[in-house]
Amino acid sequence: MDRIRIRGGAPLNGLIPISGAKNAALPLMIASLLTEDTLELGNVPRLADISSLLRIMSNFGLDHSIAGRRPGQSSETGQTIRLTAKSIIDTCAPYELVSTMRASFWVIAPLVARFGHAKVSMPGGCAIGTRPVDLLIMALARLGAAIEIEGGYVIATAPKGLRGGEIDFPKVTVGGTHVALMAATLAQGTTVIRNAAREPEVVDLAECLVKMGARITGAGTSEIVIEGVSSLNGASHDVMPDRIETGTYAMAVAMAGGDLVLENTRPDYLQAALDVLAQAGAEISPTHSGIRVRRNGNGIQAVDVTTDPFPGFPTDLQAQFMALMTRASGTSRIRETIFENRFMHVQELARLGAHIRLDGDCAYVEGVPGLKGAPVMATDLRASVSLVIAGLVAEGETTINRVYHLDRGFEALEAKLARCGAEIERLRG
Ligand code: UD1
Repeated sequence: MDRIRIRGGAPLNGLIPISGAKNAALPLMIASLLTEDTLELGNVPRLADISSLLRIMSNFGLDHSIAGRRPGQSSETGQTIRLTAKSIIDTCAPYELVSTMRASFWVIAPLVARFGHAKVSMPGGCAIGTRPVDLLIMALARLGAAIEIEGGYVIATAPKGLRGGEIDFPKVTVGGTHVALMAATLAQGTTVIRNAAREPEVVDLAECLVKMGARITGAGTSEIVIEGVSSLNGASHDVMPDRIETGTYAMAVAMAGGDLVLENTRPDYLQAALDVLAQAGAEISPTHSGIRVRRNGNGIQAVDVTTDPFPGFPTDLQAQFMALMTRASGTSRIRETIFENRFMHVQELARLGAHIRLDGDCAYVEGVPGLKGAPVMATDLRASVSLVIAGLVAEGETTINRVYHLDRGFEALEAKLARCGAEIERLRG
């Protein structure tokens, strides 16, 4: 298994191109199942999760092609994928496949909406909290799907098609909103989604669905209204920039010091996180195509943070921010309200010398003057990148094991950081 080795102490200077968002690309790819025409997606990141989802959907009979690299394009340039779900031969997603990635459960929505039948295994994915799918199932039931749960599978049927309905989510769920949105596009009549997730990825999906002929208003607000149509057509759409990758590199430079331009991204996708970083001592300014983040000389101040659904501070940046706070002057309180158990990075950060105390859904991080390199273990996607951030300033060598988690969600991480001066390399093993 590959490892990543970092020698701490080098500042980060230069330019990092931000990739397309994994969390937008996955639902967009799944949306291709709603039409027999071709959906062309540009700016798709080269990540293990993208390949896994392609494998799962190919099993249904989906055809796909990946456009070759053009001259001048590097291995970090997003790829263009064409997806055609014309001859779907199977509407069952087995455990062996779904268990590798939780988001693949979402295929249940387009399958039942278009074919009237779907059998999808309960998901696996990152081991953060219990992460149930009850609200996703509730949404489909509100649209008239009959639901059975049998042997670890959810079977959704609607032989006469779905019909519009009112879906009130008791809690904000990104996946639930994606599922409700996709299913409602082909349901007969009007659907209203209340307490919808307002994440930019939901807006990206809605914009693509509209290009495909769906009738949707209100995406990006907490009430989305969908008028069902009888069929959707093909379209061409570029995946939005990855706001979590953007925030991760912003935190990396706040930690290591230096001056980074993050290109092809948008500050409004992560304003809450940038505000917190500015309070912590980073200088942040917009550029014509992204964000410039600097920290020169000044120390890092402790800031308290609570994770929240968008537009709040994202749970997917919590681990990275905690890494930053290990070096702050003062004690920071970090409260995780989205996922229980999303503190698995705490023990590993402690191996590098961090002082962190856990109390229920709060972590109290007491800044220390220095971290010391050590071998550490990546436990999930965001946790593993928090160890990279800590390693950037830890004295000596930090080796991060099990980097397959990183490969699921960060495109060309070590190449991007190394080009900006970090001493980081992948050890193939
Ligand atoms: C998505 C993101 C993930 C991010 C999360 C929150 C993708 C591929 N993943 O995950 O990176 O951390 O949003 O921003 O986009 N819940 C239920 N019942 C359900 C569904 C969810 O109780 O049926 C709960 C979850 O346990 C969690 C909360 O709702 O406590 C939010 O989860 P949700 O927004 O659904 O996360 P995902 O869509 O799985």
